[in-house]
Amino acid sequence: MIIAVDGPTASGKGTIAKALAERYGLPHLDTGLLYRAVGRGVALAGGDPDDPADALAATAFPPELLGDPELRSEASGGLASRVSIHPEVRAALLERQRAFAARPGGAVLDGRDIGTVIAPGADVKLFVTASVEARAERRFNEMREAGRAVTLEAIAADLRARDERDRNRAAAPLVAAPDAIVLDTSALSREDAIARAVALVDRMSAK
Ligand code: DC
Repeated sequence: MIIAVDGPTASGKGTIAKALAERYGLPHLDTGLLYRAVGRGVALAGGDPDDPADALAATAFPPELLGDPELRSEASGGLASRVSIHPEVRAALLERQRAFAARPGGAVLDGRDIGTVIAPGADVKLFVTASVEARAERRFNEMREAGRAVTLEAIAADLRARDERDRNRAAAPLVAAPDAIVLDTSALSREDAIARAVALVDRMSAK
């Protein structure tokens, strides 16, 4: 079974994808991490994330970079959003994601274009979303717990900017596949969101 989980930043899609992978015994790929590694790679090389050639060069990142804790930072997320605009970067990361999706037994992938581009034939497609306010508050609490000095306003502004870029880019924009089920987690606890996702997968995969 292939499960595609797409949605905007801090919607809960990563948490849900991980929980589904565990529940159904499937391997999980957080595809945002690949774009984050490219963004971080450009920064480490002193390149320009808005330059397609610099960004493309960074797609040949060493595998160890995926374990860099800095990839989880807001700065890396912003860089990832910028490098992900370039069609050549998306093309360079495509095969790796498709190969993961094609693993025997299936897989769970989360990102922005899994249900639309990477695995359009996925058995189950979820589009996980939440209001900007709910997402900003979650991200704010996470960052505060991690001891980072941030304000709710700055996080909300950053989320809006990233949504705008992810939704409006020409190549594989963030959009729900026509056959995706939308799961709005704004008013749901983590546990309820996971329970709802499991119920949806059970229902859709039984069809
Ligand atoms: O899911 P995330 O916040 O880690 O993703 C970071 C950025 O990477 C996101 O703003 C857009 C890009 N991305 C993408 O374009 N396609 C994906 N499948 C995953 C992420």
